[in-house]
Amino acid sequence: MDWIYVPFPVKPENLKAAVEGLRALGVEGVNVTIPHKEAVLEYIDDIHGTAAMIGAVNTLKFDDGTVRGYNTDASGCLRALEEVTSVEGSSVLILGAGGAARACAFQLAERGASDITILNRTPEKARLLAEDMADKLGFEASYGGYELIPGSVKSADILIDTTPVGMYPHTDDRPLVGAELMHEGLVVHDLVYNPQRTVLLREAERASAIPVSGIRMLLYQGVEAFRIWTGRDPPLDVMEDALKRALKGD
Ligand code: ATR
Repeated sequence: MDWIYVPFPVKPENLKAAVEGLRALGVEGVNVTIPHKEAVLEYIDDIHGTAAMIGAVNTLKFDDGTVRGYNTDASGCLRALEEVTSVEGSSVLILGAGGAARACAFQLAERGASDITILNRTPEKARLLAEDMADKLGFEASYGGYELIPGSVKSADILIDTTPVGMYPHTDDRPLVGAELMHEGLVVHDLVYNPQRTVLLREAERASAIPVSGIRMLLYQGVEAFRIWTGRDPPLDVMEDALKRALKGD
């Protein structure tokens, strides 16, 4: 395919001009990243339903002058989990209540998770996310602080850690959940992808739980964006190799 993917560093004050310029130039689409994922909503004509509820997009498609916005962090999280399990009817525990937790929580609720618990270092932020899910989706999520981790892990089918605990260079952090709290078959998705095998995923292995590296979500958010722009799914192994090479700094 005769396409090219290039970085454009954009200052916040130039965001509107950048989106208009990209549209005028006939660019097919772009990924949008920190710090623009929320601010860019103002310049979008058509927002995909899940992205609208999340209030953030990471992918734009320019369609005959119409700017469409999507959140493939959310769909990427879902695809990463559905490689190993079915989300529908599952009991989900999410640690953290920032942007990534928000994307995963809305997507998994929409996908038919039977219940979702959000626990955060600052429980107030978990409450705000749960309330927003109730408002926008009519989904009643539970919420609280980390002291609820032991009981919540016990009843969970899927555990998603969206916090930076264990991220390079803090690879020897104490994980929020140890093997002794996990059960066999629990799906443990750590969104940290550097290192790929985090301290949490090592605990998951010890407990015969099912570890899912953050690299899977990172891979699938890219795969989903590629599909939105081109209408095609890229060869996964090629994209995965490229991603791993890029993470190693090759
Ligand atoms: P992202 O956009 O990747 O979700 P974020 O918005 O900064 O990142 O959210 C990080 C989440 O991890 C937050 O919920 C944060 O808790 P607070 O709301 O209390 O800040 C949580 N977090 C960050 N560092 C943590 C740590 N060392 N231990 C436990 N939780 C942590």
